[in-house]
Amino acid sequence: MSRKLANVLITGTPGTGKTSLASLLATQTGFKHVEIGRYVKEHDLHDGWDEDLSCYILNEDKVCDFLEDRMSAGGNIVDHHGCDFFPERWFDHVLVLQTENGILYNRLEQRGYSGRKLRENIECEIMHVIVEEARESYREGIVRVLKSDTVEDQDKNMDVALSLLGGAGEQGAAAGSPKKKQRC
Ligand SMILES: Nc1ncnc2c1ncn2[C@@H]1O[C@H](COP(=O)(O)OP(=O)(O)OP(=O)(O)O)[C@@H](O)[C@H]1O
Ligand SMILES: [Mg+2]
Repeated sequence: MSRKLANVLITGTPGTGKTSLASLLATQTGFKHVEIGRYVKEHDLHDGWDEDLSCYILNEDKVCDFLEDRMSAGGNIVDHHGCDFFPERWFDHVLVLQTENGILYNRLEQRGYSGRKLRENIECEIMHVIVEEARESYREGIVRVLKSDTVEDQDKNMDVALSLLGGAGEQGAAAGSPKKKQRC
């Protein structure tokens, strides 16, 4: 099924600024902001609560089933800290945000993260886990890694995203992509 509008995935380690950027972009484009964490909670797309990490245990099949129709329609900005379980065909553009470790540490600490949760998220960023995941999951031409340290970076990232959406929606969707994986 071809889409008239593109779908964008904004991913990156927690705290790198996905929701801030996705929300601004949604306001400017009229695209729908699909914040996976919020959907998981609001629509029970999980397998319970993880006491250790203080978060819901996301059920990937439920998330993909729930989103399939709206992703087929296009016009979505998906915001999530992981990216390897979505069908590759869903996305025309994948933006991976990265933040310098010290800046990220302060952001997460201010948010009240500590102990294992803080440490594991910083390690994730140091090891470029999400960048690797994105490169392994999507074709090279659609993955862009964007610095997200400052408000100026956010402005630049908005410009990048807006220019991508300026003309690439139909082209990206119509061109299709090799279905490397189909988990849903
Ligand atoms: N480019 C940026 N420059 C400076 N501050 C930023 C930038 N992006 C986001 N922030 C700030 O960092 C904090 C985290 O941002 P945000 O909630 O958007 O991150 P996130 O990636 O969505 O995190 P999570 O994965 O946990 O939902 C917020 O206080 C936000 O205002
Ligand atoms: Mg967020």
